[in-house]
Amino acid sequence: MICVATTAEVREYWERHIHDLDITTHPVGSRGFFDDLDRYHFEKLHHLFRLVPFDGPRGRTVLEVGCGAGVDLARFAKGGAEVTGVDLAASAIALARANFEQQGLHGRFEVADGEQLPFVDNSFDLVYAHGVVQYTANTQRLVDQCRRVLKPGGEAIFQVYNRVSWLNALSKLMNVGLEHDDAPVLLKFSIGEFRRLLSGFREVRIVPERFPVKSRLHGGWKGAVYNGLFVGTFNALPRSLVRRFGWHLLAFCRK
Ligand SMILES: C[S@@+](CC[C@H](N)C(=O)[O-])C[C@H]1O[C@@H](n2cnc3c(N)ncnc32)[C@H](O)[C@@H]1O
Repeated sequence: MICVATTAEVREYWERHIHDLDITTHPVGSRGFFDDLDRYHFEKLHHLFRLVPFDGPRGRTVLEVGCGAGVDLARFAKGGAEVTGVDLAASAIALARANFEQQGLHGRFEVADGEQLPFVDNSFDLVYAHGVVQYTANTQRLVDQCRRVLKPGGEAIFQVYNRVSWLNALSKLMNVGLEHDDAPVLLKFSIGEFRRLLSGFREVRIVPERFPVKSRLHGGWKGAVYNGLFVGTFNALPRSLVRRFGWHLLAFCRK
């Protein structure tokens, strides 16, 4: 995969941008802010509860790469895992630490590049990278590092955006930008490309998810058509027919 930006450019962008910031009016870092982020994340991504083993065996070690404000990592910690979060942006790590502290959760955090993870080989039972591979400078390097630090037999979970999806098509048709489309790197993958990226794993299962839910962020006539017509119509179609067009591709990989 060709690098389209430097790691310094990616870091600089994410130091200044907090994912999902638009959905809250609470001051950044307050409890109301983290609660809003959590509510919005799992309202939009309710499939995560079904697919991700947040409540896995107690004491297993979980590394989240690109943990942002620690929304998913807090779920793993509540489930009894020993969690570590890394992110390229110091601002994200500061938020994740505050989020954990306010909830009385324990976690290790470090500012680190997922393309050069500061951990020895075979360290973690589970490595999780949600919404990160598509934003990093060298995707293959990040995936390979996640596999390196995973214990043999351990599971890695990645999420990227599906190029052949309802949201990508709709954003082009309606001329509405995608979230973070101003980021230095924003890649979208076909299922085949994603599978090739993960070919170093022993087993790979790819599940398309993330179907239309009503938006609180888009107003005007486009928002009205989307919320009033598109969401209901799309969700009335048999999932078996439209699953492959889900906006998120989740990969469950075994080392
Ligand atoms: C869209 S946010 C996703 C945050 C969180 N994982 C989620 O799903 O809500 C992308 C995050 O990935 C981080 N990131 C991007 N490239 C990275 C890299 N090479 N190493 C570590 N973190 C990275 C960014 O700093 C940012 O916090």
